[in-house]
Amino acid sequence: MINYQNVRNENINIEIKLLLEAIYLKYGHDFRNYSPAHLKRRILHRLMLSDIKSISEMQYKVLHDPEFMREILTDFSINVTEMFRDPLFYKTMRREVLPVLKTYPYIKIWHAGCSTGEEVYSMAILLEEEGLLDKSLIYATDYNETVLKVAKKAEYTNENLKAYQKNYEKSGGRRKLADYYTEKNAMIKFDPRFRKRIVFSEHNLVTDKAFAEVHMIICRNVLIYFNRELQNRVIKLFHDSLMKGGVLGVGSKESVDFSRYGKAFEYINKNQKIYIKKYSHDE
Ligand SMILES: C[S@@+](CC[C@H](N)C(=O)[O-])C[C@H]1O[C@@H](n2cnc3c(N)ncnc32)[C@H](O)[C@@H]1O
Repeated sequence: MINYQNVRNENINIEIKLLLEAIYLKYGHDFRNYSPAHLKRRILHRLMLSDIKSISEMQYKVLHDPEFMREILTDFSINVTEMFRDPLFYKTMRREVLPVLKTYPYIKIWHAGCSTGEEVYSMAILLEEEGLLDKSLIYATDYNETVLKVAKKAEYTNENLKAYQKNYEKSGGRRKLADYYTEKNAMIKFDPRFRKRIVFSEHNLVTDKAFAEVHMIICRNVLIYFNRELQNRVIKLFHDSLMKGGVLGVGSKESVDFSRYGKAFEYINKNQKIYIKKYSHDE
C-alpha cells in the first residue's frame, strides 16, 4: 500500500474527490459534502484493512464490485450508538419537552440517522413512562440498510446492559430497564409493543425529501459528519418537516445556530441542544 503520509495533500484530495464522484455516478450515494477529515480517516482506515494499494485502485474496485461498495458504505457511516446516550438529554425531554407534546391529540416523531435503533427504543420507553406511547408514532430512518435490519429486529447483545441501566437511571428512569425486554442466550429483545409504534425505513438526508409534518425531530451525532453546506441543507429539511412549535434535538457537538434556517429556531435547552421552531423561515 502507498504510504499516504508521504503523499502531498493536494494529490490525496484529488484521489478522494474522484472516488466520491465514482460512487455518486455509479450508485447515487452522495458523499461529496461529507466532512473531508472524516472521509479521509475512513478511506485510509479501509486501505489499511484491505489488500488495495491506493485510493485510485479503490475507485476501480468500487466501480466493479457492489459488495465492496456495501463495505465502503458501512465504513463511511459511523454507527456507534447506545441506549439513553447522554442521559441528561433524555431527562430534559422528560421534564421540558414531553409535557408540551402531551397536549397534542397524537404525536409524530422522526429519528433521523437512527443507526441500530437503541436511541429509538430509549425514546419509546420514555413515551411509555409518560403515558404517551399509545398516541405516538415514531419514524426512524437511516440510509444504511444493514443497521436498519438490526433496529427492526429489536434484538441486542446483553454486553452493554450495565452501562445502559446506568444511563437509564440518570435519565430519570422510573423502573428497571429489564422491565422492558426479555433476555435469552446472551441477547435481549425489546417488548413488541414498542415495535408497533415505530416505522423503520431507509431515508438519505443528502438526497431524499422532507417528511410530512412532525412534532419532533431527533437527529443526533449525524450532522457532525457533514460539511457546512450539507448541514445547511439538512437543517432546511428539518425546518420544512417540523410543524410550528415543533421540537428539534441535535447532538452535543452540533448546532443549527449558524444556519439561515436555524434562525427560525430558539433554544428550549441550550446545554442539551434542544430547540423549538418558532416560525417558518419565510414568514
Ligand atoms: C454516529 S451514528 C448516530 C446514531 C444515533 N443518532 C446516536 O446519536 O446514537 C450516525 C448515523 O447516521 C447515519 N447517516 C450518515 N449519513 C446519513 C445520511 N446521509 N442519511 C441518513 N443517515 C445517515 C449513519 O448510517 C449512522 O447510523
